[in-house]
Parts: sequence; C-alpha cells; structure tokens
Amino acid sequence: MKPIKRLRKPLAALAVVAAIIIAAGCSPQGGEPKATEGPNPAEQTAAAEPASDWSLATDCATCHSAEAATTTEASLGAGVHATTAGTNCVTCHNDEAALATVHQGADGTGAMPKKLRKTTVEAQTCQAAGCHDLSAEELGALTADITDLTDSKGTTVNPHEVMGLTAGHSDIACSDCHGMHRETVAADTCVGCHHAGVYECNTCH
Ligand code: HEC
Ligand code: HEC
Ligand code: HEC
Ligand code: HEC
Ligand code: HEC
Repeated sequence: MKPIKRLRKPLAALAVVAAIIIAAGCSPQGGEPKATEGPNPAEQTAAAEPASDWSLATDCATCHSAEAATTTEASLGAGVHATTAGTNCVTCHNDEAALATVHQGADGTGAMPKKLRKTTVEAQTCQAAGCHDLSAEELGALTADITDLTDSKGTTVNPHEVMGLTAGHSDIACSDCHGMHRETVAADTCVGCHHAGVYECNTCH
C-alpha cells in the first residue's frame, strides 16, 4: 500500500468510472468516488502513468479541497446546487479543452496556488436543459420584484435584464452575481464601471 499522499492517481482512475455518468445536465447524480473503494489492479496500472492526463474524470477534490468543502455549505450556491440538483464539479466546469490547458503540469506534487485565476462558467451552462433553461422573459419575471440593484438616484434595475441592456452588459455572466463557492452581492457587479454609484454614463463627463 502506498502512503496516503500518493493516493491521488488511483483516486483519479476511480473517478473515470464515476464521471462518465456526469455529462448530462442537472438530474441527480452520484457523489464523488470514495477513498474506501480502494484501488484495484487496473487502477494501479493507471497510477503508474504520467500525471499530465488530466481530464474531466479526474477527482477534483483531491486538489481543490476548498471548493469541494463549499458543496456541503447550505448558504453557498455550490451547496444549494449539490443538494437540490445533484450537481458535481463537472456539471458546471465542463470546458474540458480550456481546463486541460490550465491543468498542464498540475500533478498534485506542488502546492496549490493561494489564489486561482477567475474562472468562467458560461450562461449556456447555467441555462442547459434540465437546469435554468428559461427564456429571457422568464428569467426577467423571476426577479421583477427584486430591488437589490437600486442606485443613489433611486433608479432600480431588474438584475435579469442587465445582461440585455446594452452590448457592454452582455459580458456580465450569471456567476458574477451568483457566485457558487463564495458569497456574492449583485450590486458589486456594477461598481467597476458605474464608479459614481449611478446607473448611467455620459451625464457627468
Ligand atoms: C492534481 C491537482 C488538481 C486536480 C486533480 C484538479 N485540479 Fe484544478 N487546478 C489545479 C491547479 C494547480 C490549478 C491552478 C493552475 C494555474 O493557475 O496555473 C487549478 C485550477 C483550476 C481552475 C481555475 C481556472 C483557471 O483558469 O485557472 C478550475 C476551474 C479548476 N482547476 C477546476 C478543476 C476541476 C473541475 C477538476 C476536476 C475535474 C480539477 N480542477 C482537478 C490542480 C488540480
Ligand atoms: C453549480 C455550479 C458549480 C459547481 C457544481 C462547482 N462549481 Fe466551481 N465554480 C463555479 C462558478 C460559477 C465559479 C466562479 C465564481 C465563484 O467563484 O463562485 C467557480 C469557480 C471555481 C474555481 C476557480 C477558483 C475560484 O474559487 O473562483 C475552482 C477551482 C472551482 N470552481 C472548482 C470546483 C470544484 C473542484 C467543484 C466540485 C467540488 C466545483 N467547482 C463545483 C460553479 C460551480
Ligand atoms: C446582475 C446580477 C444578476 C445576473 C447577471 C443574474 N442574476 Fe439571477 N438573480 C439575481 C438576483 C439579485 C436574484 C434574486 C436574489 C437571489 O435569489 O439571489 C436572482 C435570482 C435568480 C434565480 C432565482 C433564485 C431563487 O431563489 O429562486 C435564478 C434561478 C437565477 N437568478 C438564475 C440566473 C441565471 C441562470 C443567470 C444567467 C443567465 C442569472 N441568474 C444572472 C441577480 C443576477
Ligand atoms: C463593463 C462595464 C459595465 C458594467 C459592469 C455595468 N455597466 Fe451599466 N453601463 C455601462 C456603460 C458603458 C453604459 C452606457 C451605455 C453603453 O455605452 O453601453 C451603461 C449604462 C447603463 C444603464 C443605462 C442603459 C441605457 O439604456 O442607457 C443602466 C440602467 C445600467 N448601465 C445598469 C447597470 C447595472 C445595474 C449594472 C450592474 C449589474 C451595470 N450597469 C454594470 C457599463 C457597464
Ligand atoms: C455622477 C457623475 C458620474 C457618472 C454618472 C459617471 N462618472 Fe465617470 N467620473 C466622474 C468624475 C467626477 C470623475 C473624475 C474623478 C474621479 O476619477 O472619480 C470620473 C472619472 C472617470 C474616468 C477616469 C477618467 C480619466 O481621465 O482618468 C473614467 C474612465 C470614467 N469616469 C468612466 C465612467 C463610465 C464608464 C461611466 C458609466 C458607467 C461613468 N464614468 C459615470 C463622474 C461620473
């Protein structure tokens, strides 16, 4: 038996089996593979392979323990999604090509960076069939009465109409307002550009 810190790759091989199931949407799915399942001879073969073969089937939690911990946090989006929709990591982080590039050289032997680059989960992932597959009108109706986005002049904007306001606003992502592993405040999304606390431009300068 190898020492604990060498378990990563056998776990990754186990995850191959579990993650095949993952691909499709938000229907409830099985959890992460468990360490207690133990490696079988086939998986030990996999353990001898180079670590660069990262894929969506890799067990993410072995390295990303911080994000994994949020999936049991009822106050955070990741926890809500795990409980109510049975999501796992790759339901949302599904851009295999982009992530494979990010993970080149990540073999679990180095320390995890303190701060990770901001990652993108596309609106189309959130709006996939079985998830939030709502039209713009339906999304708008969900937040018609929400007043979180009220500026210092008293102008209130429906948060779900912001992305369609002008071309510049279409770059705003669902996840800018709906963080999954962290608390987010929708109004914070605006202040980077609306620096004067007013939802307008070209009025002062
Ligand atoms: C062997 C360790 C390891 C495993 C396993 C692993 N990651 Fe990572 N991941 C890293 C490291 C290291 C970084 C930071 C890379 C960098 O910034 O250069 C990272 C970065 C990321 C990022 C940040 C995006 C970015 O552009 O930097 C995301 C998202 C991510 N990983 C998702 C996943 C998912 C989903 C899985 C499981 C399918 C996974 N990771 C499995 C080590 C790992
Ligand atoms: C319901 C969708 C969803 C699920 C499930 C999910 N994530 Fe995320 N993840 C996001 C979003 C959205 C962001 C960017 C905003 C944020 O940080 O919340 C993100 C950001 C990240 C990042 C970038 C660093 C960071 O903290 O911003 C990593 C790494 C990551 N997720 C790993 C994971 C791992 C590992 C799992 C499974 C244990 C997982 N995610 C499950 C949606 C999800
Ligand atoms: C500008 C900020 C913002 C953006 C962008 C945004 N939302 Fe929201 N959303 C909110 C706010 C604020 C609420 C109401 C408070 C809450 O439930 O968090 C909300 C509510 C929701 C709800 C209802 C939650 C519930 O409790 O019933 C869903 C579902 C939702 N948003 C999905 C999405 C999806 C999918 C996208 C991307 C297509 C998106 N949102 C983009 C701010 C935003
Ligand atoms: C990336 C920069 C950026 C962000 C982020 C941003 N805005 Fe804007 N916003 C602008 C610019 C620039 C204009 C002026 C019109 C234009 O050129 O698009 C504008 C105009 C507006 C207008 C007037 C629209 C019109 O029809 O003239 C409203 C309302 C508004 N923003 C609300 C918001 C709210 C609410 C948020 C946060 C959820 C937000 N904006 C986030 C850049 C931004
Ligand atoms: C309520 C008045 C007001 C509104 C509305 C306003 N600004 Fe400004 N802006 C200012 C003032 C005052 C300054 C100069 C002082 C400062 O930097 O805060 C400034 C400075 C700037 C600068 C720096 C200019 C330079 O030469 O350094 C940029 C860029 C800018 N604003 C962009 C915007 C954008 C984009 C919007 C709309 C999203 C906007 N502003 C809306 C008052 C406003």
